[in-house]
Amino acid sequence: MGITKAEFVTSNTDVKKCPQGNWPEYAFIGRSNVGKSSLINMLTDRKQLAKTSQKPGKTQLINHFIINDTWYLVDLPGYGYAQRGKEGRENIRRIIESYILGRRELTNLFVLLDCRHEPQKIDLAFMEWLGEHAIPFAIIFTKTDKISKAKLQENMQLYAEKMLEVWEELPPVLTSSAEKKEGRDEILHFIEAINRQLKN
Ligand code: GTP
Ligand code: MG
Repeated sequence: MGITKAEFVTSNTDVKKCPQGNWPEYAFIGRSNVGKSSLINMLTDRKQLAKTSQKPGKTQLINHFIINDTWYLVDLPGYGYAQRGKEGRENIRRIIESYILGRRELTNLFVLLDCRHEPQKIDLAFMEWLGEHAIPFAIIFTKTDKISKAKLQENMQLYAEKMLEVWEELPPVLTSSAEKKEGRDEILHFIEAINRQLKN
């Protein structure tokens, strides 16, 4: 699937103000700095469609991008950024939760995990919470350019083992490098397959 058109639509903190139109949407979540905004730019092949930063805590709002006039990519703030302070973190948690639980158009959430790390409690707990609320999601291991293939396999295996302690089956798992533009076709095919199912 080609992305022929990608446009910013709105930024806001209130799920009720998210765009109307009933198009399926795919949102990106994960810890601050994991590479959510960079991945949206890589997928759409637009350098600064979503704002990125070396410093965590860049994205603070729910950002909608309309793709090919028929579906949305959604950039969300990251969770778990300590420097934000308790009130700041609580605020972001509220934004994320109300969006995930309240947005009917949310078709699939991509949970991004930095492939360099072994399983982290905050991510495992977040995915369990998604499970409790029956939110469909897939995992994307990001920044694969930063480690060897062998190390990537090892970390993915560790995640699978850890998750199978609580999950009966694993969610779909994808990988990406925004830097090397890898994983783009797989992620777009994944989205396309769901879009096709929804049409039929
Ligand atoms: P918040 O908005 O703060 O939650 O962060 P984010 O998850 O949107 O991360 P962002 O896309 O802003 O990227 C954070 C940093 O990681 C930036 O310096 C990016 O250049 C870098 N980065 C993102 N993806 C990759 C990748 O695949 N490879 C490498 N090497 N760096 C990446
Ligand atoms: Mg961001």
